[in-house]
Amino acid sequence: MTTFLHISDSHISADPAYHPPEIPASLPHPNRGVERLLEMISRLPYEIEFILHTGDVCADPQAEDYHCARELLTPLSQPLYLLPGNHDSLRLMRDIMHDGERTQVLGDAHLQLGGCHLVTLDSNEEGDVHAPNLSDEQIDWFAEQLESIHDGPIVVATHHALIETGVPWIDEQMRVQNGQRVQRLLRQHRDKIAGVFHGHIHQSTTTFSDGVTYICCPSTWSNLAGYPGLGAAEPDLNTQGGFNLVMLRENGAFVRRYSLPSLSP
Ligand SMILES: [Fe+2]
Repeated sequence: MTTFLHISDSHISADPAYHPPEIPASLPHPNRGVERLLEMISRLPYEIEFILHTGDVCADPQAEDYHCARELLTPLSQPLYLLPGNHDSLRLMRDIMHDGERTQVLGDAHLQLGGCHLVTLDSNEEGDVHAPNLSDEQIDWFAEQLESIHDGPIVVATHHALIETGVPWIDEQMRVQNGQRVQRLLRQHRDKIAGVFHGHIHQSTTTFSDGVTYICCPSTWSNLAGYPGLGAAEPDLNTQGGFNLVMLRENGAFVRRYSLPSLSP
C-alpha cells in the first residue's frame, strides 16, 4: 500500500504585501496557508511516502518566490514532487528548488516509487496559459508510458484539468483543450490507473468518467466556485483551503479530504 498527500496551488510569495485585487480582502497571505498545511502534515497519523504538488507552487515566476518556497517547505521530511502550474517557471523551479533527492521538480516524467508509478505531464507547453493544449509529442510519450507499465498502479498528475465538468468556466477556460485525447488513453488503460490528480481550478472535485477517477484538491490559499452556468472565476469563501490524503490499495484508492484551519488575515 502506498500513502501520499496531494497538495496544490499554494501560490507562495516572497512579497509580504502580496494580495491580488481579485482575491477577497478577508483572505490572508498565501504563505499562511502553507504554514498551516505543514502543521497539519506533522500531526497526521499516517506514514506518508511522498507529497505530490500539482502546481502553482509560487504566485509569480520569479526567483525570489522560489527561494521563499524552498525555505518555507524545508520542514517537510517526505520526498516532494513538484509540477509546474501556469503561475510557475519550470526553469526557475528546477534551478532553485530541485535537489534530486528530497525535492524533485517534474515536467513530463515517469518515476517508479515503491508501490506505484507516477506519470506527470507538464500541461503548460502550448496555447492559452489557463486552457492549454498538450503537444502531439507529449501525448505520444504519455501513451508509451502507459503501455510500458505492467507492475503496480499508475498515479497520473497534471496541473490543469483534463476532463469536462459541466461548468462552462472550467471546461472552456481552465481545462486542457485537447484533454479528450488523453482521456481516450486513460480509458484504454483504466485497469492500471489509480487516479488522475490535478489542481488549477482551486476547488475539491471528483469526476468519474469511463472507469477513471479525476481528483482535484483545493488550493491551500484561495478557493473558487463551480456550478452550471458559471462563466468566470468566482471566489468561494465557504471552501476552506485543504489537501487530500491518498492511500492506494491493490484494488483501488481511498481519498480523505482535509481542510486547513480557518485563515484570518
Ligand atoms: Fe492556481
